[in-house]
Amino acid sequence: PVTRLWGGRFAGGPSEALAALSDSTSFDWRLARHDIAGSRAHARVLHAAGLLTDEELQGTLDGLDRLEADVASGAFTPVPEDEDVHTALERGFIERVGPELGGRLRAGRSRNDQIATLVRMYLREQARAIAGELLDLVGALADQAEANMGVPMPGRTHLQHAQPVLLSHHLLAHAWPLLRDVERLADWDRRAAVSPYGSGALAGSSLGLDPEAVAADLGFPAAAENSIDATASRDVAAEFAFAAAMTGVDLSRISEEVILWATKEFSFAILDDAYSTGSSIMPQKKNPDIAELARGKSGRLIGDLTGLLGTLKGLPLAYNRDLQEDKEPVFDAADTLLLLLPAFTGMVATLEFDGERMAELAPQGFSLATDIAEWLVRQRVPFREAHEIAGACVRLCEERGVDLPDLGDEDFASVSEHLTPQVREVLTVQGAMASRAGKGGTAPVRVREQLARVRETVEGL
Ligand code: ARG
Repeated sequence: PVTRLWGGRFAGGPSEALAALSDSTSFDWRLARHDIAGSRAHARVLHAAGLLTDEELQGTLDGLDRLEADVASGAFTPVPEDEDVHTALERGFIERVGPELGGRLRAGRSRNDQIATLVRMYLREQARAIAGELLDLVGALADQAEANMGVPMPGRTHLQHAQPVLLSHHLLAHAWPLLRDVERLADWDRRAAVSPYGSGALAGSSLGLDPEAVAADLGFPAAAENSIDATASRDVAAEFAFAAAMTGVDLSRISEEVILWATKEFSFAILDDAYSTGSSIMPQKKNPDIAELARGKSGRLIGDLTGLLGTLKGLPLAYNRDLQEDKEPVFDAADTLLLLLPAFTGMVATLEFDGERMAELAPQGFSLATDIAEWLVRQRVPFREAHEIAGACVRLCEERGVDLPDLGDEDFASVSEHLTPQVREVLTVQGAMASRAGKGGTAPVRVREQLARVRETVEGL
């Protein structure tokens, strides 16, 4: 069947090579349900404008219902001659209601305003699904923080031992960025929730159709203010791709730590069998593949964003066919996250931490040196001097091959007259952690509060 929507002024059909290049059904067919919803809304405004009779409206809606059922069952699918989802569905519609009624539906709309609307509808649904998965992951991190409350670990900067922190504090440090990713999607939705339908090809419609009515019908609180902008801009798609890429980067940071924690050298955590893989040659292997795939896929998500931005750069107003390239990156970004997140959450939820090992390492690497310096500050020693004194203690320890709590009272006194034996009260991991009691700090009381705030934030989103 010849199904093109634009045959009139052409003497012949497109070359095979052009048809192959032009065809987008391999990726835009997933918008079929949204396209049909758009057609229903459009039929109603055609009716309201007096361009479809009551009977024609009924026939159109019935035909669209039958078409939708056939799309859902797989009885109707695109053929190679269909240029895109819109063309395929118009063919299917006409096959069901005949050319007389079937030929009326396209009045006053363009594939340009249609596709811009459908992509928004689709991405808004995907964003909600991704947000739900992210909240599950935050819940898993919060559960782990709760279950391991009280376990100290070496807090690091530059991957070097820095200061002891609670494992729960560290785990929640990964929860907050994910909550911001969810908030970012929610905020993005305010800008995505504007319908381009009714913009026509670029200039709007001359047929008296009401874009606000279509918008409301399709779940958009508003119709676009500018039909040229609405058909030509894809910042909403790019912003979605950014939210997805940022989420990927956040997941990759957790991944890297899980990979390290599961090494022999760290031995901080054991992966559950159901969320790790073996080696085809080395029988002993238990590999953190989920974390590695997440780390790898973050690169893919960044590629989706940068590829799309590259496509959009320098495009003149209004619609250009370049814009057909907007879909694969954002679809891939959504697919990637929706595939990854359930596995990732399972991995996090089933991690088993070795609290004893972490606690043993927490004070090592002179991670209590800052506590000596800050104790001195509380004794009114200027910080500059306190820093030097604590550093001298570390140097002494290194010379002797011992750790800070191993120094004797006379050793401390030999380093500085300010170092009375009372300094020992901060030379424990528990004391060091408890002393960091300001908002956001690692003191157990603050971390428990923080956990409650994470749970509240999840509830509120
Ligand atoms: N398939 C196109 C896209 O995805 C929409 C069709 C617009 N085509 C056109 N020739 N005006 O952007």
